[in-house]
Amino acid sequence: MENTIEKIVSLCKRRGFIFQNSDIYGGFSAVYDYGPLGIELKNNISQLWWKEMTQSNENIVGLDSGIIMHPKVWEASGHIGSFNDPLVDCKQCKARYRADEFANDYSSIDWSKKHCPKCGTKDCLTEPRQFNLMFKTHVGPIEDSGTETYLRPETAQGIYVNYQLVQGAMRLKIPFGIAQIGKAFRNEIIARNFIFRTREFEQMEMQYFVKPGNDNDTMNEWKENRFQFYTDYLSLTKSKLRFHKHGDNELAHYAKEAWDIEYEFPFGWSEIEGIHNRTDYDLVRHEEFSGKNLSYFDQVNNERFLPYIIETSAGLNRMLLTVLADSYWEDKENNRIVMKLHPRLAPVKAVICPLVKKDGLPEKARTIMNTLKTDFKIIYDQQGSIGKRYYRQDEAGTPFGITVDHQSIDDDTVTIRHRDTQKQDRVSINEIKAIISDSIKII
Ligand code: GAP
Repeated sequence: MENTIEKIVSLCKRRGFIFQNSDIYGGFSAVYDYGPLGIELKNNISQLWWKEMTQSNENIVGLDSGIIMHPKVWEASGHIGSFNDPLVDCKQCKARYRADEFANDYSSIDWSKKHCPKCGTKDCLTEPRQFNLMFKTHVGPIEDSGTETYLRPETAQGIYVNYQLVQGAMRLKIPFGIAQIGKAFRNEIIARNFIFRTREFEQMEMQYFVKPGNDNDTMNEWKENRFQFYTDYLSLTKSKLRFHKHGDNELAHYAKEAWDIEYEFPFGWSEIEGIHNRTDYDLVRHEEFSGKNLSYFDQVNNERFLPYIIETSAGLNRMLLTVLADSYWEDKENNRIVMKLHPRLAPVKAVICPLVKKDGLPEKARTIMNTLKTDFKIIYDQQGSIGKRYYRQDEAGTPFGITVDHQSIDDDTVTIRHRDTQKQDRVSINEIKAIISDSIKII
């Protein structure tokens, strides 16, 4: 039987949310392309995050740094030495695993006693080998070690190397934050669960610079703040969200303390965002490797120090998968599939349908469309029966169906259908804008 993730994958293809990359060549593993609805949904999510970070918080500013950086950045950051996953191979069937798929603390596993999960053979798994996740590339026409660099595996480093320029230009005083949305690349050993773990993805990261000693309190504040984003902005089911604290064996090389926000996906509880206390680890290392003084001068107390950094790091694509998984609803009673996306997130806010293709109804519908489309993403649909048109939009997550009928010509009213309840109200055309606006407000 098809599982929920497979059903979501097929809906995403059918309705134009997400496609396998290079589909006509048989697909390219662990990279996905976002179709017309997918890009709208992704933009809606990232704009909410951006607004919450840089508009609601007066002391957080934005940045857009390069994907390719000076190779020394990755030596300094520790990614060349430590950004590894433990790789285990089956000598029999050539299946490949991450050692931590067998146990979080895999160091005590006796691999000779293990069976390969795929072919079942015993004593055929190799000891774990460390595999660096960064994609290497060359800058310029000559491919030698002097031209080697990497595609960034996290956006954070672009913020650290620019932090003094940003602070100076904006005259920021500690505590302050720098937010960035951008692509990151990781040569993942195994990529599973659709867009959950891919080789190319987008991160939404915010680095918050604080005075050492204030880091623990700030960490707690950001933990709460970020959790609320999922409940209040994305309107996800609260009981499907939880925190997971990293044990000593899970901590990244840069972190003193780390918490994941996890969601209960159809494949189990998994991380969507990490909140990390990175201390002054990154700035110390960049001072050492660049030879530049990266300290902050506190004018009020006349002192210099290297700030500590609390990082909130979310995957945009993973957040999108969370939203899809949380919204997918099989309405068996009415034999339909509905994406119960919050109207704030829905790629299309309303579909405008003339009941029939004659009697001046299409023209009336177009006039309504023209008054709404400067404010919202609206689509026009006159193809097929009205029921089929509604069901198409239910799968696309469109919250409102606006139907123009013969009465609309007489009294300037329309019916507005609510996706989840299928309830229809008769309203004046002048009210539509306020109805849609109210539905997307953040309360
Ligand atoms: N700067 C810190 C950092 O990168 P991370 O826990 O490795 O921390 C942060 O990654 C977030 O980025 C994760 O919570 C996840 O949402 C997303 N992410 C990481 N690897 C990913 C991958 N291969 N595919 C999709 N998203 C990924």
